[in-house]
Amino acid sequence: MNIPSITLNDGTPMPQLGFGTWQLVDEQCYPAVRKAIELGYRHIDTAAIYGNEEEVGRAVRDAIAAGDATRDELFIVTKLWNNQHHEPEVAFQQSLARLGLDYIDLYLLHWPCPKQQQYISAFEGMAHIQGLGTVQSIGVCNFYPAALIELIEKTGVVPAVNQIELHPGFPQFELQKLDKELGIITESWSPLGQGKILAEPTTVRIAQVHGKTPAQVILRWHIQQGLVPLPKSAHNDRIAENLNIFDFQLTEAEIAELSALDSGRIGPDPMEFPE
Ligand code: A2P
Repeated sequence: MNIPSITLNDGTPMPQLGFGTWQLVDEQCYPAVRKAIELGYRHIDTAAIYGNEEEVGRAVRDAIAAGDATRDELFIVTKLWNNQHHEPEVAFQQSLARLGLDYIDLYLLHWPCPKQQQYISAFEGMAHIQGLGTVQSIGVCNFYPAALIELIEKTGVVPAVNQIELHPGFPQFELQKLDKELGIITESWSPLGQGKILAEPTTVRIAQVHGKTPAQVILRWHIQQGLVPLPKSAHNDRIAENLNIFDFQLTEAEIAELSALDSGRIGPDPMEFPE
């Protein structure tokens, strides 16, 4: 499986398609992550708040032991939760221990939480950890323009990644443009719009034209715009389906048609969250 690689602003290569693990908990998580790596996913996205770092780490370690991938080939991502902005080093060590890994490829600040007013010091702490060698790259999630600009001005560090809610129902073109201008790669969480846009007649029609499924067409929409989608599924057939997106090309007109599905965000507004 030939997943394209994107180069982050610190020179690190990152597989352009990742496997999301939000809501994959308990007995669902381990087999899904094992299957994903066995099938060819190399980028796995978790977070402290998902409550599945132990299972993700065990699946990664077992996949390596089984010869499905080497640690070098894998790109493992986790995130600092909102209640530990004041202690990023402690939170990071806890995540590393739960994952049972020697290092993390990318550590992300999960939400800016503007009411807490701690994202500057949290990100400075993350930059400090990066210098120590147990994390390769650092970035943010859910950062809106004002927070992103302030973060860069005050810390002098440009995040490698901004992981935001992004799908044809909520394409966030202005934020995508700003990320690009700043040299930040935009990652898409809930890339399938949590399944809601798959049944749209436009998606179904374009899928039929290409002999693909609606999910594959939506994921292709992300890939062709240079985004990094992180689809998740607990089902083996869908895990495989979501990987099989590198043998067809959408036209510019089809990308525009899908982008016109714009229906608003599904998740919380980062300027308000948490209330
Ligand atoms: P499931 O885990 O039961 O397969 P998003 O990544 O946008 O948040 O969407 C995830 C949702 O989409 C999950 O409910 C997942 O359900 C479902 N999903 C994932 N892949 C596919 C697919 N290829 N076709 C249909 N639904 C999918």
